[in-house]
Amino acid sequence: MRRRWISAAAIGLAGILALGACGGGSSGDGGGGGGQSTSQKRVEVFSWWTGPGEADGLKAMREIFERQNPNFTFYDAAVAGGSGDQARALLSSKLQANQPPDTFQGHAGAELQGYIKAGKLEPLNSLYDELKLKDVFPQQLIEQITVAGNIYSVPVNIHRSNILWFNPKVLKDAGIAAAPKTIDEFIADLEKVKKSGKIPLSIGSQWTQVHLLESVLLGSLGTDAYNALWTASADWSSAEVTKALENFKKIMSYAGTPQEDWQPAAKQVADGEAAFNIMGDWAYGYFHNPPDGGLGKTSKTDFDWVPSPGTDGTFMWLSDSFTLPKGAPNRDGAIAWLKVAASKEGQDAFNPLKGSIPARKDADKSLYKDYLAWNLEQWANDKLAGSIQHGVVANDAWRTAINDAVGLFSQDQDVAKLQTALADAAKASGQ
Ligand code: GAL
Repeated sequence: MRRRWISAAAIGLAGILALGACGGGSSGDGGGGGGQSTSQKRVEVFSWWTGPGEADGLKAMREIFERQNPNFTFYDAAVAGGSGDQARALLSSKLQANQPPDTFQGHAGAELQGYIKAGKLEPLNSLYDELKLKDVFPQQLIEQITVAGNIYSVPVNIHRSNILWFNPKVLKDAGIAAAPKTIDEFIADLEKVKKSGKIPLSIGSQWTQVHLLESVLLGSLGTDAYNALWTASADWSSAEVTKALENFKKIMSYAGTPQEDWQPAAKQVADGEAAFNIMGDWAYGYFHNPPDGGLGKTSKTDFDWVPSPGTDGTFMWLSDSFTLPKGAPNRDGAIAWLKVAASKEGQDAFNPLKGSIPARKDADKSLYKDYLAWNLEQWANDKLAGSIQHGVVANDAWRTAINDAVGLFSQDQDVAKLQTALADAAKASGQ
C-alpha cells in the first residue's frame, strides 16, 4: 500500500485548547469515591454521534462493549452537532477544567496532535504492544497519531470527505446523462437543475460549507497543489487559489436554503427535492441504514455517488480515533472501551453502519458492500489528501479561522476578502 499522506507531523500546533470560556458540561461525579460506586463503573464516552445514521455505529460498538464488560456501564456523553464543532467546544472547556470524559473521539492528524502537544492525552504504547496494534493499522495512520515515539489514540475508521451524492431521477429529469466529472461540468449541471425547478445543491449548517470548500479546493487545484497548501511553501495568495474560490462562489450560488445540519441537507437529495450534495460518507450510513437510524433508501435508485468533481483518483480522508485523556475518572473502563474500538469485531460492527471503512487492515471485507466495497477499492489505490473540516490538515485554531472566513463570505460574497482571510489564517497558524 503505497500512498501519500499529509505529514501532520510537519504541522505546527498553536493554541488549540485556547477556548475555555464555554460554560457547564461538567459531568460532576469525578469518580473519586471508594468502593464500586456508580461513577467508578460508568465509562463516559464522548463523541458527537447523536444524529440519524452516525449513532447507529456507536450503538453497535456499545453493545459489544456491554457484552464484554458486565462490570462497566456505558455512558453516552455525545453532544449533538455534525462534525463536532459544538462537542469540541465543550470538550475544550472540560479538558481545561481537568474534568475529562473517560475517552473522547478526535480526528487523526492535526486535531489530535493539538491535544497531544497540549499534554492532554496519555500514551497508549503498552496497549498497542499488548494488542499488537502496530501490525493491524496502516503505518502512515500510526504516524498521524504519534508524537515523539508515543501513540495516543485508537483509530476506529477511515471516512471519505470528497463524495458528490446525487439523486439519479432528478438528474435525468434535468437532462443530465451522467454525474459531472469536472468542476466546469458540475457548474453546467447545477444550472440545468436550476432550470428544472429543483434545488441544484443542498447545503447544511456552516461547517458543511467548509466541507464543500475543501472538495472545491481539491477539485480546482489538483491533489499536489491542494496538499501543498498545508506545507511551509504554501501560497494561499496564488491565482490558482483565486480561481478555486471563484468556483466556490459560483457553486454556492446554486445552494438551497441552508438546513440545520448535514442530515436534512442530505435528505433533500434522497427525497428528490435536490440534485446534489457534497458530504462525507457518513451520508451513506444515513441513506442506507434501515429506519429509525437511517432513511432505508435504495442505493443507485434513490441516491448515487461519484467522487466530488475534479477529484477522481484522490481520497480525501479523515479518521475517527478514541483517546485516553490524562486524569480519566475511569481509566480501566476507558481502556476496556479502547480495546473494543481497536478490535476487528468492534470495527466490523461499527463501520458498515457508520458508512466508513475499517482502519484495521484485516477486517472482514465481505461485510463492506455497495458504496463501502467501492470505497475500500479506492482507499487501496487512490492518492491521498487530508480533510480540513475534519481535523487532518489544520489544527483547531486554524480550522476555526477558516470557518470564520467562510461564515463572513456567506454574507458578503467577496472572493478577495475570503482569500486574504485564508492567507492570513495560514500565516497565523504557524504550520
Ligand atoms: C465528522 C466525523 C464523522 C461524522 C461527521 C458528521 O467530523 O469524523 O464521523 O460524524 O463528522 O457528524
